[in-house]
Amino acid sequence: MATLYLVLLTLHNLNRWVILLTGLWALAQTIPGLSSGRPFTPADRRPVVAFMGSLHLQLVLGLMLFAFMGMQNIPVFAGAPRPSFQWEHLGLGVLAAVFATLGSVQSRKAATDPLKFRAAALWTGLSMIVILAGIPWWRPLLRFFNQ
Ligand code: HEM
Repeated sequence: MATLYLVLLTLHNLNRWVILLTGLWALAQTIPGLSSGRPFTPADRRPVVAFMGSLHLQLVLGLMLFAFMGMQNIPVFAGAPRPSFQWEHLGLGVLAAVFATLGSVQSRKAATDPLKFRAAALWTGLSMIVILAGIPWWRPLLRFFNQ
């Protein structure tokens, strides 16, 4: 009966790498744009939106994990360095998704191209810092439906 838990945990584990890679892609695209004076193009917008989308998916997977583990009485983050870790993880995950959403919205709404680059790079960078702080690095770096 641990199967749905392992499916959700595996997807949540692997999607973490999608998040980190799209975040790096968004930074690699938008930071050089800051001082370039060039227009903010769809190629700049693409990784910013992909980063936000992968975080929204992670949020849904995480909430499903929490709900399912609660129903099955599986302890969340058993063996974590401190009992509060599960709430830190939830809070930082939500904050990272909010920051990534702001990056997408503000870079679309900004009046000028330099302001679009600034919003995208700033919010993506802040979101990445929060993500790196919230990941349980002591857990498996990769998981394929195994314990
Ligand atoms: C920034 C977004 C997030 C990232 C990068 C992330 C990453 C991770 C990673 C790497 C694991 C360990 C997976 C494994 O052991 O294979 C994990 C576990 C977990 N995460 Fe997240 N997470 C994020 C957001 C969230 C959110 C928002 C929630 C809740 C709403 C959440 C709930 C959980 C739960 C319940 C577990 C399982 C704990 C356990 O097995 O004891 N995560 N997360």
